[in-house]
Amino acid sequence: MKRNMLLFYTSILMTTVLALAILIVNPPRFDLEVFFVFIFFFVLTLGAEAMPVRLPRGDGSVSVSFAIIYAYILLYGISLGVLLATVGTLSKREITGKVAWHAVVFNRAQLAVSAATAGYVFLLLGGQIGYLDLTFSNLIAITVGGFAYMFVNATLVTLYLALLEKVDFTRMWLYNIQWAIPNFAALIPLSYLIAVIYDITGVPGLILFLFPLLLARHAFQRYMDMREVYINTISSLTRALEAKDAYTYGHGDRVSFLAKKIGRKMNLSESDVEVLGYVGVLHDIGKIGVKDGILNKPGPFTGEEFREMKKHPEIGAEILKGVSFLGNGSKWVKYHHERLDGSGYPDGLIGDNIPLGARIIAVADAFDAIMSDRSYKKARGLDFAVRELEANVGTQFDGGVVAALKAVLEDPESAKQVIERKVPIDSAVMAMAATVEKGEGDSHV
Ligand SMILES: [Fe+2]
Repeated sequence: MKRNMLLFYTSILMTTVLALAILIVNPPRFDLEVFFVFIFFFVLTLGAEAMPVRLPRGDGSVSVSFAIIYAYILLYGISLGVLLATVGTLSKREITGKVAWHAVVFNRAQLAVSAATAGYVFLLLGGQIGYLDLTFSNLIAITVGGFAYMFVNATLVTLYLALLEKVDFTRMWLYNIQWAIPNFAALIPLSYLIAVIYDITGVPGLILFLFPLLLARHAFQRYMDMREVYINTISSLTRALEAKDAYTYGHGDRVSFLAKKIGRKMNLSESDVEVLGYVGVLHDIGKIGVKDGILNKPGPFTGEEFREMKKHPEIGAEILKGVSFLGNGSKWVKYHHERLDGSGYPDGLIGDNIPLGARIIAVADAFDAIMSDRSYKKARGLDFAVRELEANVGTQFDGGVVAALKAVLEDPESAKQVIERKVPIDSAVMAMAATVEKGEGDSHV
């Protein structure tokens, strides 16, 4: 077994042992009333978990189950809270075997450890179970306890994913924490509210309170769906465009895959890496505005035809300009045919004036073109492609980017994927949620 996988399984085992130890030290005790209340919170948590809002990028999802679990901890203590976190968060996908077994085990364990940490931190800061008065010290205890949950949850999930996908832990952790802080900042007050409303009004009041929340969730999901539909629509347009020409089929996906690998090697932030993934697929979307006759022409272009073809980066940037979550991505599309010496198009930018994202796409794009059969040329091998890129460092390509590509190709697994040219279609990878859904078999990094 490779060292990485050994570490991976060890981390699952250690988390599980820790979770079991917590349950043994704090065995949950029930009387009939406590049992019925537990069942009520259990159903609520299952419901929240069954209706997560799926994020359009990668494998993440957000659910409000944390708010319910933490409220329950504040009301009933650590041992019952840990039990609720463990059994209440099982999702349908996990129960029906769609998630790898070790992900299911790991999720149970990491959620138990997170819930226990929240409870202990709350108690340590002077909080008392069932005491919900709005005093300053109580608010501090509740808030810090909630963020402790977030910290442990994000750290363990990141550890799992970083080991599984062999990506840099720190960078992924920072990205996940950045993403989680605003979420938990909203969910911790919600926890407190749930606890107080339950304390004052019991089950009926809590149901009444949660109903409008469900409606809000529905609206949020619709918004997320729309973003996803939008990005899928443009991606399928690109693929349709590629399908017209048997030679370029899959080009966008391969450029996307490579560009992200290069971006990670160059220590770009995870959000920039994600945008690289999208821009890789979409970089030639502007060819939609170029006449078919020119697009599919096998022979060399006339001057007029070339001028027409050179419009595609700007058309593409125009199409993507309105997509707010692509950030600078539309600029990268616009400048992916610029060259370092200023002889590229559309603006003839020189050196560092060309955005780094665009310089990365340019290298990934050229590399894939050399490695592919085209109507006017045969595919060349890996060594030839690398030599060709190196020969044009400084004039056409960025030396740092080409060096990063070479480093990517040194990893035998990436090199194999590049040579076999089979890149997963859904290559936009970034995951963060309260749970993981990835197993060994479906990792795409
Ligand atoms: Fe292009």
